[in-house]
Amino acid sequence: MYYPQVRMRRLRTSQKMRDLVAETRLDSSEFVLPIFFDANLSEPRTTDSMPGVVTYPLSGYMDVAREIQDAGVNAVLVFGVPDHKDAKGSDAYSEDGVVQKAIRGLRAASDLLIIADLCMCEYTDHGHCGVLDVDGAVDNDKTLELYQKIAVSQAAAGADIIAPSGMMDGQIAAIRSALDEAGFEDVAIMAYSAKFYSAFYGPFRDVACSAPGKGNRAGYQMPCGNRREAMREIDMDVAEGCDIIMVKPAGPYLDIIREASDNYPLPVAAYQVSGEYAMIKAAAANGWIDEERVMMESLLAIKRAGADIIITYYAKEAARYLRERR
Ligand code: PBG
Repeated sequence: MYYPQVRMRRLRTSQKMRDLVAETRLDSSEFVLPIFFDANLSEPRTTDSMPGVVTYPLSGYMDVAREIQDAGVNAVLVFGVPDHKDAKGSDAYSEDGVVQKAIRGLRAASDLLIIADLCMCEYTDHGHCGVLDVDGAVDNDKTLELYQKIAVSQAAAGADIIAPSGMMDGQIAAIRSALDEAGFEDVAIMAYSAKFYSAFYGPFRDVACSAPGKGNRAGYQMPCGNRREAMREIDMDVAEGCDIIMVKPAGPYLDIIREASDNYPLPVAAYQVSGEYAMIKAAAANGWIDEERVMMESLLAIKRAGADIIITYYAKEAARYLRERR
């Protein structure tokens, strides 16, 4: 049967009707807010390319935790900027490193679910995600040993989930065995499995002070056009024992999110990255788009594509929107 007996508009006649037939709903329990701590700060710092994103000094975290929970967000992804960088990124695995201190503080101040980003680019003086070999390329296997130390130090500080983002081969197996050996068998791993070599990470590097000094990340992050390769990356991470898989960025890679969620029985996380956020912010600041609607639409699209978990700089605003505007 077709028009005029069938009229699609019947189910669009009121907000209640549209809500009744909604196929996709967002809920703040699926949001994760990335947060940044900088050991060099005594006052919070803002970054021009990431309006609304604040980097906190280590002494300011009590208020942050409360504010995040008050907004209705349950989970954070923690990043740190250390007070010294060196070739081996040693602050990344120091017991008194910036992120370990931040995690301990958040743990004491709140019952937020704490996810620790595990990478070295914020901690190395060269800005790469691992240690370099004599030719200046990232040495995969030497880097894995350091990732093991970072994971154990983050778990010891109180992280619930370790999220390795460096795209080294074998990183999940290496981290899983180190965590288990140290008695952290209940600490989960969220694998940045399909992390593309994306220009959308630009503003993040301003916030996290993590741009590579020389070269780029094309030697370890994935080529943007490769869908089957993304599935291989996920396959390996699942085989190595990760608990959650991630696709990153999110909005420009909805097809990858869909394919991952169709083919793997693990929770799928999607990271709406800094450039995605900054583009919405910039257009909104010019009055060219309705920020609130574009924010919610961008998140809804990520959910519709199959994401179970959405990491977004909009987590607090979106959670507030869901609570107040429904
Ligand atoms: C660290 C890391 C990056 C992001 C998350 N973890 C930057 C990068 O790979 O250069 C990007 C997040 C964002 O853009 O919001 N490796």
